[in-house]
Parts: sequence; structure tokens; C-alpha cells
Amino acid sequence: MTDRYAVIGNPVGHSQSPRIHAAFARQTGQDLEYGRLLGEPGRFAEQIREFLAASGKGLNVTLPFKGEAWRLADESSPRAEAAQAVNTLIALEGGRLRGDNTDGIGLVRDLEQNWGYELRGKRLLLLGAGGAAQGVVWPMLERRPERLLIANRTPDKARELVRRLASPGALAGCGFDDLVGEPFDLILNATSAGIGDRVPQIPDGLLATGGWCYDLMYGDLPTAFVRWGLEQGAARAVDGLGMLVEQAAESFFLWRGVRPRTAEVIAELRAGTSL
Ligand SMILES: NC(=O)c1ccc[n+]([C@@H]2O[C@H](COP(=O)([O-])OP(=O)(O)OC[C@H]3O[C@@H](n4cnc5c(N)ncnc54)[C@H](OP(=O)(O)O)[C@@H]3O)[C@@H](O)[C@H]2O)c1
Repeated sequence: MTDRYAVIGNPVGHSQSPRIHAAFARQTGQDLEYGRLLGEPGRFAEQIREFLAASGKGLNVTLPFKGEAWRLADESSPRAEAAQAVNTLIALEGGRLRGDNTDGIGLVRDLEQNWGYELRGKRLLLLGAGGAAQGVVWPMLERRPERLLIANRTPDKARELVRRLASPGALAGCGFDDLVGEPFDLILNATSAGIGDRVPQIPDGLLATGGWCYDLMYGDLPTAFVRWGLEQGAARAVDGLGMLVEQAAESFFLWRGVRPRTAEVIAELRAGTSL
């Protein structure tokens, strides 16, 4: 019987994951189906069990269930533990579930492999302290940046994230008003301000000469934060489409043991062609 996978979220109709995983499956010759599951608040765990009972081998999890998925998993990877959020569930022998979080490695791979950007020794500013930010901090710290400052509209959430990760030295948290006078080599936007075509209210002049901007959000047109980055003089300002494909590729690898080629899938999504 064909192995089944799905993305569960609410809403989930907009998700590109089925297209991406169908392309990976074709490319690697893997026999699998990948669908969408509309998560029902209060029935998440039950829906997962039902899916697994019907040949389900794994799921991607998106808003607002990543925290619930972490609590549901019988075991989790260190990066999922650090994030306290799971975006990938893997069915193990005996009905057990393993949780992982591939968002951070997706971001790091997109920067390093697709854009040729080295994080080591860099001064990084991460805007936001929500689910996406929580997922990317640990994998970015593993690359040994000189500094990683997390700034959030609600400053206590940034400070709480720093306390939880308890990484001395490089990591700190603050509010947007505290951002003065310090230059950064890379500013990453992990807020959802862009959904309203807005940017977080941060001061001008935070980008070092030759600095880059990275928006975790993506769209058909340049996002508000990509446009802001270019106005600030960024050497490059890029969106998170590559991260989306890279986090999917890592999930695919965890499930199937095969690593798909991502560049052609990113290019096809970027061109808007049917995969
Ligand atoms: N490319 C990818 O693969 C990928 C993966 C995951 C997420 N994302 C993107 O990442 C973004 C964040 O997602 P999430 O899951 O972290 O959402 P979330 O958990 O709801 O967190 C939202 C974050 O945005 C901040 N925020 C919201 N509106 C803001 C505004 N107007 N100004 C400044 N800050 C604002 C919130 O600050 P407060 O704490 O003050 O409320 C919070 O830090 C979304 O755009 C999502 O599409 C991309």
C-alpha cells in the first residue's frame, strides 16, 4: 500500500507543501501520496492517530499546531526540543511518534547552499520571537555567529526565548526601541508583519555596509521587508521561498532516507510553473 503523508494546519488550503513533496517524489522515484489535512482545534491528537492508522507514515505541522505536535510526540530531536515546536512528525515502530523541527536547518541551508552566505562570525539580528523564530535560533547558533540578537515587538518574549535557550555570550534579546547604533551583517524578519504588507517598526541604519536582509515570508512579488532591505542599501535582500523548499527536503529525507535536489524545485516555484 502507498505510504501516506500530509500537512496539517488551520488554514491549510494555501500550503505549497503538497506540490513540493509531489515534485520530490517524482524526482526520486518514491511511491508516496502527500495531502492536506485541515486541523480541528481540540481534535489534533485524534486526527493524527486516525491518519497514522490509515497508512500515514508522517506529517508536516503548521500554524497553529506546532507546539501541540511537540507535546504529542513520544520523542523529539534536540532542535525540536530547543524550539519546543515540531513541524515534522515521523511514525516509528510500535505506534510511537518522533517529532523534529526542520525550519531552522531549512533556513540555514537556503542561506549557505543556495545563496552562498556564511553565518559563522557574523552579527545577526532576528526580528520576531514567535514559532518561526523559535525554530531557527538553535540551528543558527550552531553555525557560530559572532552575535545573535533577537528583537521582538513584545520584548519579554524575546528575552524569554533567550533565557530558555540559555546560550551564553552570543545570544541576547530586546525590544525594537532598544535597537540603536549597532550594525548587523544580516537582518532576518521572522515576524508576521508582512502579511499586512508592513515591516516591523525598527530604526534605519542598522545594516552594516555590504549587509544582507532575509525575509522568512515569501510571495509572488517582493515582500515589504525585501523592499525595505533594498531601501536600506542591502547588498542582497531575499525572501523565504528557498527556506520553504529546504525545510520540506529535510522532512522528506527524515521520512524516506533520500535527499531530493532542491534547486530545480525552487526555480519552478519561483517561475510559477506547475511542478
Ligand atoms: N519560509 C518558511 O519556510 C517559513 C516557515 C515558517 C514561518 N514562516 C514565516 O514566518 C513568519 C512568522 O511566522 P510564525 O509562525 O513565527 O508566526 P507567529 O508564531 O504568529 O509569530 C508572529 C511574530 O510576529 C510578530 N509580529 C506580528 N505582527 C507584527 C507587526 N505588525 N510588527 C512587528 N512584529 C509583529 C509577533 O510579535 P509579538 O510577539 O509582539 O506578537 C511575533 O514575534 C510568517 O510570515 C510565516 O509565513 C516562513
